[in-house]
Formats: sequence, structure tokens, C-alpha cells
Amino acid sequence: MPSLAHSEVALPATIYLEPTNRCNLRCRTCVQHRGLAESARDMSLDEAKWIADQFPALEIVVLHGIGEPLLNDDIFGMVAYFKARGAYVLFNSNAILLDRPKAERLMTTGLDELRISLDAGSASTYAGIRPGASFASIVRNIEDLIALKAEFSRSTPMISAWMIGTRDNIHDLPDLVRLAARIGIEEVYLQRLVYFLNDAGHGAAVREQAIVDPPPQIQAVLDESMQLSRRWGIRLNASGLTSPEQSLRSESKSGAPWRRCRRPWESTYITVQGNVLSCCIAPFSNSDYAALIFGNVFAQRFEAIWHGDTYSRFRRRHQSFSPPPGCSGCGVEWSL
Ligand SMILES: C[S@@+](CC[C@H](N)C(=O)[O-])C[C@H]1O[C@@H](n2cnc3c(N)ncnc32)[C@H](O)[C@@H]1O
Ligand code: SF4
Ligand code: SF4
Repeated sequence: MPSLAHSEVALPATIYLEPTNRCNLRCRTCVQHRGLAESARDMSLDEAKWIADQFPALEIVVLHGIGEPLLNDDIFGMVAYFKARGAYVLFNSNAILLDRPKAERLMTTGLDELRISLDAGSASTYAGIRPGASFASIVRNIEDLIALKAEFSRSTPMISAWMIGTRDNIHDLPDLVRLAARIGIEEVYLQRLVYFLNDAGHGAAVREQAIVDPPPQIQAVLDESMQLSRRWGIRLNASGLTSPEQSLRSESKSGAPWRRCRRPWESTYITVQGNVLSCCIAPFSNSDYAALIFGNVFAQRFEAIWHGDTYSRFRRRHQSFSPPPGCSGCGVEWSL
């Protein structure tokens, strides 16, 4: 069992930092579709450094939150700064703005990993879940980045394609694996849908769209995708370091699966407004936003928040059989 004594919890070596909460899409699964709880802004490079300097040992820095990182031009400086500090740096992007100059800057600043959220393997399915962008031009952007890496003999950024599995789009997973094989994407990830358990949800982020314990026709889609990925040497994974099949299996609440999550001890998530939350999943799993906030780094040192009463109470509750509301849904209905 992780330590519950606040003085024993070392500062985290993994941070999620939100460079912007502005977005050029309103995906049907995302809280951007419903409306943000925080007002829109970008984080400046100086703010990112000022926050990061409160973390003595950084190993992994994830530069995304709810928003499109490439909308903030300071993202390149942030990647360079965190690479200079020796961290592994990655972020997710919708790749709409990933033109050649941006791709080149990401490559030269040393970004380790770029996760591209596609949610589809075809234009028609893409339009249904991520309306408002051209699937074909995003695929061209990815192809150009892959060609650029080859031109400069670079192995990074490692490129993966991400797909949230909903009942409406899961049939596209084999096509996404085919696309990855055709253009040279190394990994495909299936992400389990997270949705609010404490209200009706929004868009495609609703219980009816979730896939839990796949029925035979969805199992057949997973099996076909696995076969294709093996044939072409594409790694097909699920978020939470598990296989697509396992990630969609329900877990019994009696086992308190949320207790296996290490995030409240090992990582933290800081929004563009400086609010500190347990993880990037919390804003997707609980609509009571005020209840998710442990403190604000623009008002208080991070260390005081990390060791403060609110975070400590959260950790204690997280280890109980009556967890914080977001964790209850996350641990049972989403892969850890
Ligand atoms: C919020 S986005 C931010 C980065 C960027 N805008 C993008 O789309 O990749 C981060 C990730 O959250 C995923 N996401 C959005 N809505 C989700 C939901 N309801 N459940 C699980 N993941 C979700 C996106 O597909 C994306 O991979
Ligand atoms: S998932 Fe990403 S691209 Fe889509 S609306 Fe949310 S932040 Fe924007
Ligand atoms: S919401 Fe999920 S990922 Fe976040 S702390 Fe709770 S159990 Fe962990």
C-alpha cells in the first residue's frame, strides 16, 4: 500500500502541464465539446519554467491537457527546456497544425514522442467523432513528419496513433492499423472512453457509447486488429499499459481497482490557470470541477499543495472502498 503520511510522499517526477486550453476542434468525446470549466488562455514559457523549477527531479513531462498544444507557439521552447533538464517529453496532438516548419522544430528541439489522436481509420468515421478537420490533410501531415525523420535520420519523435473506442467508431480500428502500416506509424493505442458518472454527459462521452466487456462483433474487430498488427509489426496497445482486450474488461468494484492507480503519489496535473488536479482523467470523469482542485501554483508553492490537507485527504480516500467520485468511475470503467 502506498504511503498515506503526507511527509513521506516525495515530490512527483512526472508532471502533466497544460500549455493551452484553447482548441481548434470540438471533438464529441471531449469536455471542449461541452464547455470548459476554466477560462481560455495559453501558458507562457516563463510560467512553465517557473512551475517546473519547483520540481527538483523531473523524469517525464507530458505537455498536454485539454486543448491543442500546437496552438501555443511556446510549446517548442517548453520541449527544449524540459529536454535540457533531462526529462522524457511527449504530448498528444490533433496534428491539424503540424506543417513542415513545426514538424522540423519539434524534431530539432528533441521531442521524444508525439501521440496523434485520430479516433478513426477513415475520413467518414473521423468526421463523425472529430468534426471540423480534414482527415486527409492530417494524414498528409503525419506522412510529412515521417519523411522528415527519414531525411534527417532521426528516430524521434516516436509517432503513435490514438483512438478512443466507442460503439460508433470501434469498427474502424482495423483500418487505423492498416493506415499505420501503410504510412509508417509505429504504434496504435486504443483508449477507453471516459465519461461523467455524476451527470448525463455530453456528445459521445456517455455511458451508452462505452465499450465494457466487448460483445462478439466488437471482439471480432479487436481480433482482426491484433492479427493485422502482428502481420505488419505494428505495436497495438491500450492506454494504461495493457492490451486492448484487457482494457475493455469490466472490473468488480469489490476489488477497489482504483487503489492500484499510482498517480496521486507519482504524478500531478497542472492546468493553464495553475490549478493542481490529480490527473488528466479527472476532468473527464467528474463534472464537479471545483471538487477536483487541490490548490493553485500561482497562489502557493507546489510543495505546499502536494503535502497539503486536500491532496492528503484525497490520497487517503483513494485507498478506501469509498473513493473520490472520479476515481470510482475511472478504476472500474477505464483502464488504469
Ligand atoms: C484532451 S486531448 C488534448 C491533446 C490534443 N488536443 C489531442 O486531441 O490529442 C488528450 C487526449 O484525450 C483524449 N480524449 C478526449 N476525450 C476523451 C474521453 N471522453 N475519454 C478518453 N479520452 C479522451 C483525446 O482523444 C486525446 O488523445
Ligand atoms: S480531444 Fe483534443 S482536439 Fe479534440 S476537442 Fe479535445 S482538446 Fe481539442
Ligand atoms: S481519476 Fe483515475 S487516474 Fe485519476 S487518480 Fe483517480 S483512479 Fe487515478
